Amino acid sequence: MTRPFIIAIDGPSGSGKSTLSRLLARELNLLYVDTGSMYRAVALAVKRAGVDTSDAQAVAEVARRASIQLEGDPDSLQVRLDGRDVSEEIRTEEVTHTSSVVSTIPEVRREMVRQQREVGTCGRGVVLNGRDIGTVVFPEADVKFFLTALPEERARRRFEEERVRTQDINYDETLADINARDRRDSTRADSPLAIAEDAIVIDTSELSIEDVLRRMLEVIGERRAGQESDD
Ligand code: C5P
Repeated sequence: MTRPFIIAIDGPSGSGKSTLSRLLARELNLLYVDTGSMYRAVALAVKRAGVDTSDAQAVAEVARRASIQLEGDPDSLQVRLDGRDVSEEIRTEEVTHTSSVVSTIPEVRREMVRQQREVGTCGRGVVLNGRDIGTVVFPEADVKFFLTALPEERARRRFEEERVRTQDINYDETLADINARDRRDSTRADSPLAIAEDAIVIDTSELSIEDVLRRMLEVIGERRAGQESDD
């Protein structure tokens, strides 16, 4: 049996990771794992359990007990927490903030990484996106991308995205939030956001989604062709 083909996509929030991972998974008919939504589900479980995020042990216990499942095809990925669809609930501002905090706890990361490895190694291949996929979860991934963009551009994207959902949003606050999350992601002791040595870095600030997708598909095609000729 051939081993699964693993594509790792890392980068800060608003860099285009989710959109491009979804498009790639669909185009290549691979499983799609949005690891950020797993940390978001933990944050929601913590909130529901009434646990204080400063109590690392209690948060880790919630993470271990929570049943988190990602279901459906890439275009309509459903996130289930203990059997219930929480896809909408995990997108609130509060959960976004809490997910960034609970993801700094090493025991939480250990549990999520374990689950991500389990999902990633069953099936014919997978596209995973997150912050530590190419560095920690699958350092042996077949292709690694690191997507990035200027903070102002990422804030603009997030702002446009959220404005459809709510009037209660302001660009300056969105930018401040992006900067705060970047800082927490990049400075945490355990698995900080970092560019894997062998990752292909794409700055999406001035590129269209189609341009980035084309570039990624080219790289994947070359990598696959190289692997076939090695076999
Ligand atoms: O990607 P998304 O914004 O949905 O992720 C939510 C939070 O989970 C991020 O702010 C980040 O701190 C954390 N995260 C992480 N490692 C991952 C994916 C997400 O620490 N692999």
